[in-house]
Amino acid sequence: MRTQVAIIGAGPAGLFLSMLLQRHGIESVILELHSRGYIEERVRAGLLEYNTVQLMHELGIGERLRRQGLEHGGIELRFGGRGHRIDFRDLAAGKCVTIYAQHEVIKDLVAARLAAGRPILFETTDVALHSLDSKNPHVTFHHNDVAERLDCDFIAGCDGFHGVSRPAVPEGVLTVYERDYPFGWLGILADAPPSSPELIYAHHDRGFALLSMRSPEVSRLYLQCASDEDLSLWSDDRIWSELHQRFATYDGWKLSEGPITQKGVTGMRSFVAEPMQFGRLFLAGDAAHIVPPTGAKGLNLAVADARVLAEAFGAFYARGDSDLLAQYSATCLRRVWKVQRFSWWMTQLLHRFPDESPFDHRRQLADLDYVTSSRAASQTLAENYVGLPVQGHDISHAGARL
Ligand code: APR
Ligand code: PHB
Repeated sequence: MRTQVAIIGAGPAGLFLSMLLQRHGIESVILELHSRGYIEERVRAGLLEYNTVQLMHELGIGERLRRQGLEHGGIELRFGGRGHRIDFRDLAAGKCVTIYAQHEVIKDLVAARLAAGRPILFETTDVALHSLDSKNPHVTFHHNDVAERLDCDFIAGCDGFHGVSRPAVPEGVLTVYERDYPFGWLGILADAPPSSPELIYAHHDRGFALLSMRSPEVSRLYLQCASDEDLSLWSDDRIWSELHQRFATYDGWKLSEGPITQKGVTGMRSFVAEPMQFGRLFLAGDAAHIVPPTGAKGLNLAVADARVLAEAFGAFYARGDSDLLAQYSATCLRRVWKVQRFSWWMTQLLHRFPDESPFDHRRQLADLDYVTSSRAASQTLAENYVGLPVQGHDISHAGARL
């Protein structure tokens, strides 16, 4: 087999990249480890930045999003038993975010890709990358138990944190920056109407809690827990009791309960590998960086990388101009680090740390007070939350180059 860009992984990074390349008339083949059913059902995050929503509409894959997405013009920060609204439309030039599950995005992208007759090879195993520092890289893998070889001009490593692309970069090339957090999130889906029209990020002495949703009938709720929390110790009653305590207010606000349909524990980590390129391999999304979920940035960051990479491939194939490809890593990393900063800031603002001192605690409360009482501070939160501009979006203007 031969293609122009071999894409490893059919997550948000790989699928958005493939759609954007198609728009530039560039051929790609996607190799995905799991089955279509698996990637279309796996429960993950579900909050889309303003630009991500716009992109789905531009790509002509926004029809279900338009019908089922829930637009949110703000969030609530809850602490000391009181809620404080951050109004995005007012603070971030009329922008909002949209609740729409990541696996629904995946379904829309897979359907569009297959409808266009473009290949996604599901359940490919033993993917290995070769000759990355030559002009003729190739990928070997097994599909339907047959050994295959895919020759290409470039490889896009979009295979997430545990994929094979980043480890294919020779030792000593990448510098890794990381931070683990001494806690995780216990997340549930419940058949209960969301108790609030907007997300609630709650700071509480017992630990952080987040109220989110998937639809007018389904709530998504999270509780700060130990990073190695044993789920078997968490009965449904214990989960609800803990949520009630962490969301309690002085004005009698009520959390509605319903049957819990899914439970899981997620670890929290910040991670960046630099540069996001080696020879003809370009890393995008979780393959290159991880953020803790507090700012809901993982998916959106993957989409931003895909946009920058697609613009760069576009310039290469249209004009033989490899400048943007050479700048890909630096262009992405500049935004990646700002998003890392925001995700870390939201995380340290809202969680209880096991080793925190009374000073740390008072400073955290002052930070919450400041961000909810100063227009400048709430605006900073709002512009980051709805999403910072993507360089790839207007990268063709010389002035936007870094
Ligand atoms: N070969 C082929 N495919 C692979 C391999 C492999 N060796 N390893 C992993 N994959 C696939 C995974 O099955 C998955 O479908 O690569 C895809 C990577 O997708 P994501 O992990 O979703 O990563 P990304 O596209 O970068 O999106 C990042 O998704 O869930 C999140 O927290 C994450 O929000 C972030 C966003
Ligand atoms: C989610 O709905 O899954 C979600 C929302 C906001 C976050 C994290 C996760 O910050």
